[in-house]
Amino acid sequence: MIAASAPGKVILFGEHFVVKGRPSLVSALCKRVHVKISKSEDDRFTLLSPRIGVSLRVTPQRAMSLGGKLAPLSALIRFFHEKFGVKPEPMRVEVESGIPVGAGLGSSAAFSAAFSLAYAAWHGIDVDLDTVMSASLEAERVAHGKPSGVDSAIAVYGGSLLYRVGNRPERVDIRIPEGYKLVVANTGVERSTREVVERVLGRASLLGRASSYVYDAAEELVKLALEAFKGGDALLLGELMDFNQGLLNAMGASSLIIERIVFAARSAGAVGAKLTGAGWGGSVIILVPEAEAGRVMAEVSRSGAVEVFEANIGCEGVQLER
Ligand code: MEV
Repeated sequence: MIAASAPGKVILFGEHFVVKGRPSLVSALCKRVHVKISKSEDDRFTLLSPRIGVSLRVTPQRAMSLGGKLAPLSALIRFFHEKFGVKPEPMRVEVESGIPVGAGLGSSAAFSAAFSLAYAAWHGIDVDLDTVMSASLEAERVAHGKPSGVDSAIAVYGGSLLYRVGNRPERVDIRIPEGYKLVVANTGVERSTREVVERVLGRASLLGRASSYVYDAAEELVKLALEAFKGGDALLLGELMDFNQGLLNAMGASSLIIERIVFAARSAGAVGAKLTGAGWGGSVIILVPEAEAGRVMAEVSRSGAVEVFEANIGCEGVQLER
């Protein structure tokens, strides 16, 4: 039996803008997807994922060309076939996710990273992290068209990263300022990353220069955020989060449930709040003084969030489990 796990993510600053080459700041969420591969008792490729209600039993050949939600899995199997000549074979793949699915918290990239590492190890291939990153990116491409790669990068390398398309992800030291907590509120609304990304890109091209100022502002925000994290300046970070939320709203990535949660959090004592990930639904991140955390979390639940939790960030990237 071989097992691997990878973390989810919270994008702190720069989602969407990263798709058009701007920088983003992302941290690994200390919640993981676990993938276990074991010998099959029959001649089938079996995938069991109770959390997303998947129970698949197909021939190994068929596992290379699955559609819909399972198309990214086939992309991974094809990746290892094409790059390492690995033929799909009967096996049993069990997936357990501690990351809410479809919530903007990187569960799909965490799955593709953990599956890739486990699948390679199962076949005795000693892959490096850059290869796992390429595999995960293939799966993300199939899942949502034009991924920047930020979700795959954090699932693979972990910690906290300054990420920009075309550059090596740069490790950065991100800590939540002392006396503050980072809270995640899940709207419970699943959205298609592909659709939101298309909407934002559509608006960007429609607005031309006007939108390029928004992208410039988003880029500047990432620089300011790095300084604010370095100085442990929570109030400035809160301001930057609110401003980033305004830019994302301007580009069409927000929604009523997101704004409701953001405003409920701010009026209950949060210093800043913004959507994280693609938007429309998914999750909101909230920076809150420790003393106010209980009240803010209760208000956010009342405003419609289906799940609210304190986020620990900066954990290890993909790894084999013993
Ligand atoms: C999704 O987690 C982040 C987006 O910026 C898309 C991407 O970067 O691929 C919305």
